[in-house]
Formats: sequence, structure tokens, C-alpha cells
Amino acid sequence: MAQTQPSSRHSLLLLLACTLFPQLYASYTTKIGVNYGTVADNLPPPSTVAAFIKSQTTIDRVKLFDANPDMLRAFAGTGISITVTVPNAAIPSLSTLPAAQAWLSENILPFLPQTAVTRIAVGNEVLATSDKTLIAHILPTMKSLHDALSLANLTAVQVSTPHSLGILASSEPPSAASFRRGYDKAIFAPILEFHRRTKSPFMVNPYPFFGFDPSRAESLNYALFKPNGGVWDAATSVNYTNMFDAQMDAIFWAMKKLGYEDVELVVAETGWPSVGETNEAGASFDNAASYNGNLMKHVNSGKGTPLMPNRTFETFIFSLFNENLKPTVSERNYGLFNPDLTPVYHLDDFIAREAAGPASGPTALTPSESPLSSSSSKKKWCVPRRDASEAALQANIDFVCSSSGIECGPIKDVGPCFKPNTIRSHAAYAMNAYYQASGGHDFDCDFGHTGLITYTDPSSQTCTYPDAATATGLTARKPDRAASLTPAFHNNHLFICVQIIICFTFF
Ligand SMILES: *[C@@H]1O[C@H](CO)[C@@H](O)[C@H](O)[C@H]1NC(C)=O
Ligand SMILES: *[C@@H]1O[C@H](CO)[C@@H](O)[C@H](O)[C@H]1NC(C)=O
Ligand SMILES: *[C@@H]1O[C@H](CO)[C@@H](O)[C@H](O)[C@H]1NC(C)=O
Repeated sequence: MAQTQPSSRHSLLLLLACTLFPQLYASYTTKIGVNYGTVADNLPPPSTVAAFIKSQTTIDRVKLFDANPDMLRAFAGTGISITVTVPNAAIPSLSTLPAAQAWLSENILPFLPQTAVTRIAVGNEVLATSDKTLIAHILPTMKSLHDALSLANLTAVQVSTPHSLGILASSEPPSAASFRRGYDKAIFAPILEFHRRTKSPFMVNPYPFFGFDPSRAESLNYALFKPNGGVWDAATSVNYTNMFDAQMDAIFWAMKKLGYEDVELVVAETGWPSVGETNEAGASFDNAASYNGNLMKHVNSGKGTPLMPNRTFETFIFSLFNENLKPTVSERNYGLFNPDLTPVYHLDDFIAREAAGPASGPTALTPSESPLSSSSSKKKWCVPRRDASEAALQANIDFVCSSSGIECGPIKDVGPCFKPNTIRSHAAYAMNAYYQASGGHDFDCDFGHTGLITYTDPSSQTCTYPDAATATGLTARKPDRAASLTPAFHNNHLFICVQIIICFTFF
């Protein structure tokens, strides 16, 4: 498709198609990795999680923080590639070949080839522990595991270890970056030599969330891939427009200074919390959605970074779930999904399988091939976002039940959906009824950023929420002067503008 310039008529058709069928714009396939952390007591069983990831998302790779057999079994037959982790504490004991072979036989071999284990991470951010014994054993254990894999003819399984950005002595500007003195030649040169020899990646955990200056809006925009004035690296004459690129290029510079700039990089962890302590500026639902959404578009665009042009970094978002047993508020809120599998914030643009549309390339998509048939197979409902205020939800109820023409009998006091008699529950019913009756477009569930699309049926035994199939016959009347009541219509236009921009970017 890059070869031929489409005629202007063709472009117009595409533009029209994009506007009419939002599902089309995202037909570029977004490859997404996630970290599946489990510091929680309320997560669904691994089999449920694996089935959910496979059937409802575009996530195609998962990183585990251990080699939990239930999880490895759960991903059997899914084709999702799995990175397992050797816990830090086990590193010293696996530095000999027989020990590595025994670990492999017990923890990995039983699950191959049904489960696609593609990489073993030896510990996590080991340098940051400052534990001399662990640090001294990283490379010997990486080597012994690699040798054990080779002896088992599993040469495709890579061995690596993820690092925090604390391994750098400085990182601003990127050209000034180098590995911490004392670790550079003694630790990193041999590790990078191992990666070059075994064709495995250097894994890093960049977190712009920890790098921006909360007192400057400009700095937050720079961290979130939003328009900003850029940060100039005078030594290289590069104008960095986002912090992620700057952090990746800082790693690149540190590797280059040791002569290993050819080694592949994998982003083992990055993310943004949706809730934080009061002193943690920047933690919000909108910022988390912006960071993760823009990050995925960026790493999948093929643009690379200023110093690593055209490279696509395999990237693992931290984290799949909100984990309720983590120590701090923000650490508990890095998740894309709640434990009940509902999204924490709007993810549809970049993660819901539905938004990825048919697997065919854009050239195969014409307006006559309506994507509606493919999208109707997966049911969706609209519910309030967790952070929506009761006042906003009451306004949604008032709008839906008095101005939009929706029949709200089921949530009146003898109706089947009256109980539980809470604003949140009534708003869920009303917002969903409106969303379905309006045609089930994502923007019909926006309600001024108070609505969220879910794939989990909110119906109870007595109360049935309409879905796309049962909503036929319902119609919403869109009032003339509704802008003040429902920002949804306002956003409708914004949404289409965004689609047009995305269409131009991707076709
Ligand atoms: C590995 O492959 C070689 C050559 O094909 C074969 O001789 C050997 O038995 C294999 N080893 C294992 C553990 O499968
Ligand atoms: C860097 O890029 C930004 C965004 O495109 C632009 O506003 C800024 O003027 C540029 N700065 C320099 C020094 O080129
Ligand atoms: C990157 O891709 C662009 C566009 O395809 C091409 O012009 C450029 O030469 C490539 N750069 C490198 C370093 O491969």
C-alpha cells in the first residue's frame, strides 16, 4: 500500500469509510504485551485470564513475574508468547549448568510446546537491589540457562534480564547518558556481549511517569506524547518530542559508548497509574489512557526513535490488572483492567480486539465490506466509570430518562432494575439503554468521560440490560440543545476529527 499513491477519489472514500465505520481506522494491528502481575487477592483464575486475553484483546505477549505452572498451563494453545521470570532469590542457585537444567526440566519443559514460552527473564531489576551476590550471579545464570536451553534444542528461547533506568549515571540529555561507573565495563559490557552472541535483547523498564516535572504542564505533555516544545540535545542536534524516545535513546547512548549499539532493545515494563497519592501529580484516568494509548501507537508505528529510526520495540505495559496488595495507591493502580475484567478506562482505541477489526490489510477494506457483521459478534455494554461522581451520573439519568426518549420504566420503583436503588446502578441501566438505542458507537457511551464500554454483561437475575441484539426497536431522540446536558454529542465531533486524523496517519 505504501507503493501506490491512492487517487484523491480513493482517499475520499477511505475518509468516508473511516468516518462512517469507526472500526475501520484501527485495522493496523496493534501488538501489545502486558505484564501479568499478581500481587492481589481478588484476581480471576489464570484460565479465565488467558481466555479473556485471547478472545477480547489484541494482547499477543505476556510477561510473568515467575514461572507459575497454573499460568503456563492456562496459556497453552493460545499462541500468546510468554516471558517467564526466574525470581531474584533463585538466581545464585541456578548459575551451574546442572542446576539450570533441573530448573528448566521442572518449570518450563513440561509446558512446551503447547505454551509458547519465548523468553526467560533472569530476575527483575537486579542491579537496583545493590545485592552483590545477586549481581555477581546474573550473567553466570543467564549463561547456564542459555546453555541448558541449547542442550534441549530450544535455541529459540531467549534469555535476558530487565533493568530499571537507575543503571544510567545520567540520562539528560540522552547523548550524555552512560552506565553507572563501576558497572559499565565490569557488568554491562559482558552482559551486552552475551546478548550480541545469543541474539537476545537488552530489556529495560522506562517510566516517564517518574521523569516529568509536575510543576510544568509542558513537561507532562512531553511525558504523555502530547504536543510540546520539545527538548533539545545540542550534542546531536536532535529535538526530542517525547520522553519515551529520550529515555530509549539514553539507553542507546550508554550501549553505544561500550560499543554495543547493535543489541536489540525490549521494553520490559512501562506504564502510568490511573490513581495516585495526593502528592503524585499526573496520576489520573485520562493521563493513563493517554500514555498507554499514545505509547502503543508510537511503538507500533515503526518510526523508532531519533537515534534508532524505523525500529519497533517489543513493549510490555505494566500492568494487566490493578493489584490490590501493592503497597502504595499508585502502585495499586497501574492496571489496564479491574479484577472483574472490565477496563479501568477507555481502552478501545488500542486494545480491544474488536477495534482491531478484520485481520486483512487496509487495501482490502472498502465501504461495501461492512465491518458491522464482525463487530456484532462481540457484545458490549455501557456502564459508569469508577471515578464518575454521583452528580454526573444523576445528570446522565436525568438526560436519558427525560430528554432522550428512552423508556426508563425498568429503573422506576416497581421495575425489574429498580434494585439496587443506587444512582450508580440506575445510571448504568440508563446509560446503557441510551448507548444501545443510539447505535452502540463508542462515543455514545462517553457521557462527558463518565461512561465506559464493557464486554461483561451487567445484567442480574431480574434485570436484563439491552445489548446490540435486543436493542432493536429502541431509538434515542437526540435533542437540539443537549450540549450542556450531554457532552457526548460534543465529543461526537471530536471523535470523528480524531478518526480522520488517524485515518490520514494510517492509510
Ligand atoms: C537435539 O538435536 C540433536 C540433533 O538433531 C539430537 O541428536 C539430540 O538428540 C536432540 N536433543 C534433545 C534433548 O532433544
Ligand atoms: C522542537 O519540536 C517542537 C515540536 O515540534 C517545536 O515546537 C520546537 O520549536 C522544536 N524546537 C527546536 C529547537 O527545533
Ligand atoms: C527509515 O524508513 C524511511 C521510510 O521508509 C526511509 O526513508 C529511511 O531510509 C529509513 N531509515 C533507516 C535508517 O533505515
